[in-house]
Amino acid sequence: MSASQSALKPRPASALDVARIRADFPILGLKPSGKPLIYLDNAASSQMPQQVIDRLVRYQTTQHANIHRAVHTLSEIATAEYEEARRKITRFINAREEREVIFTSGTTEAINLAMHGYGRRFIGAGDEIVLTTLEHHSNIVPWQMLAEEKGAKIRVVPVNDAGELLIDEYEKLFNARTKLVGVTHVSNALGTVNPVKQMIAFAHARGVPVLVDGAQAVPHLKVDVQDLDCDFYAFSGHKLCGPTGIGILYGKAALLERMQPFKGGGDMILSVTFEKTTYNVIPQKFEAGTPPIAAAIGLGAAIDYLSAVGMDAIAAHELDLLDYATDQLKRIPGVRIIGTARDKAAVLSFALDGVHPHDVGTLLNQDGVAVRTGHHCAQPVMQRFKVPATSRASFAFYNTMAEVDALVAGIRNVQKVFS
Ligand code: ALA
Repeated sequence: MSASQSALKPRPASALDVARIRADFPILGLKPSGKPLIYLDNAASSQMPQQVIDRLVRYQTTQHANIHRAVHTLSEIATAEYEEARRKITRFINAREEREVIFTSGTTEAINLAMHGYGRRFIGAGDEIVLTTLEHHSNIVPWQMLAEEKGAKIRVVPVNDAGELLIDEYEKLFNARTKLVGVTHVSNALGTVNPVKQMIAFAHARGVPVLVDGAQAVPHLKVDVQDLDCDFYAFSGHKLCGPTGIGILYGKAALLERMQPFKGGGDMILSVTFEKTTYNVIPQKFEAGTPPIAAAIGLGAAIDYLSAVGMDAIAAHELDLLDYATDQLKRIPGVRIIGTARDKAAVLSFALDGVHPHDVGTLLNQDGVAVRTGHHCAQPVMQRFKVPATSRASFAFYNTMAEVDALVAGIRNVQKVFS
């Protein structure tokens, strides 16, 4: 669902019991800056409910051992829990098979894995990679490194003034040398929800695989990788109420099997001699060394939590917050919202006339309001909109309308201070 869709048909009032949900998040009751925390930096990292914290503690206190390595009971328990987490993630994104779900350290490593494993094997001199203006640096820089190494070329899909991809221009970029599309599902800087399903269908009709950066989508929308038909889908645990240090690369099995390993080491091999190493099957082929076992199990618990709340209810509540916040900010003279796509997730980037975003962030923090200010690791977006940086409020399902009011009051206070 999207803000645009919400504008078309009235939504029922949010079904979430936000007060009860907030009680699950101990950090939301703190005053890190001396004022009650109003946490609106969820696109950078979301907070963790007690259920996930408890799961991590239970694993560390009663289940911890290395996995896939020993026959002793603890190792078997840890292995079973780690693989159970993979099953939960497989179901959550509706992958066909568990072996299509690879644990990584986060979205960045997931995209780097695809670049090394797929790109370095299948993309060569003169080939072209299509990216978009809306990409996070983590879906630009690895491909630039590849292009530099191989003599390949990056082509970029432009956006309109609302921050929507120009799909006609996207389609014009394809030619016989196009070897891969990399596109973010939801822009971290603007909140634009891209028409990835349509883009994937177009690319596939020309035999081109598509990697989707889902870091900002998975926490907010119901994602079904089979329905999208994407070839790769990358996301992080820490934006999904899980721990840091864990992420996922989903890949179609047939592609993963043709890829070369990214990291060499233990667990990713079947046999090693000094003459020759044979690699393990997927997904282990891509999980060299001791993985972040606790974090994977924590991510499984986070998915249990989000599934119990319900992704549809989460999306509906967040869009209510976005609609309300957008409406309120539009009423403040001197505020310019950057990113006004018809289809948006709950990210609100804005510029305040005459005030540097860093000062906006600093003053809001004094009111307890945590937003991100800066270029959001998306400098091409900033260049497109001719701003050095923005202030960005990004909402989660545990945020409230009262917190939006606090943001609005905080912005008015910033304007007063600088008037
Ligand atoms: N990519 C994260 C953000 O948008 C860190 O803030």
